[in-house]
Amino acid sequence: MSSLNIEIRPITPPDVPAISALAREIWLATYPGIITQAQIDFMLEQRYGHERLYDDLEDAEKWLDQAFLDGRRIGFAFSEIYKGEFKLDKLYIHPDVQRKGVGGQLIAHVAERARKLDYPCVVLAVNKRNEKAIGSYKKYGFAVREAIVDDIGGGFVMDDYIMEKKL
Ligand SMILES: CC(C)(COP(=O)(O)OP(=O)(O)OC[C@H]1O[C@@H](n2cnc3c(N)ncnc32)[C@H](O)[C@@H]1OP(=O)(O)O)[C@@H](O)C(=O)NCCC(=O)NCCS
Repeated sequence: MSSLNIEIRPITPPDVPAISALAREIWLATYPGIITQAQIDFMLEQRYGHERLYDDLEDAEKWLDQAFLDGRRIGFAFSEIYKGEFKLDKLYIHPDVQRKGVGGQLIAHVAERARKLDYPCVVLAVNKRNEKAIGSYKKYGFAVREAIVDDIGGGFVMDDYIMEKKL
């Protein structure tokens, strides 16, 4: 399959409302059946509230990338230094263009940044029941390192696998 000709650009402050809205759209297509609607709403506010995203943009150890196809914003990838490791923190592609290699291109973009910064691997956390995402990560060289249950407040937990891709 030939890859889509996407453009990857850094997210800037004026993009914040659109990224927040895109996150909501993708989450509502992804997480019902995996986590409750109450947890979806809680996590969207916690991670994609405008103020939170503005703060992320100010953080020197976070990189927020967005992808465009023919001028349309179709996804984003956030990466960061987390506990001394290089982490792919968020990877979300619009349902219209999933399974066309866009996730793979964003993973390659983030992995290249980690490599340039001399990190030996990229890590991520993924819900244990998010089988499509786990399949995608395995396809791009990630393997499960451990299983965790992380308290995120509000009475909710993240029931995740930590996966890593060696560079
Ligand atoms: C998971 C995700 C980031 C992968 O990006 P993508 O651009 O769709 O994936 P790619 O085309 O690069 O990779 C395709 C692989 O992903 C997996 N995959 C993606 N969509 C799938 C689907 N609808 N059904 C089954 N497997 C799927 C498969 O392993 C697939 O490989 P295959 O086509 O050879 O079987 C994207 O589908 C997405 O945003 N999903 C919803 C949000 C999400 O779960 N994000 C990850 C949170 S940790």
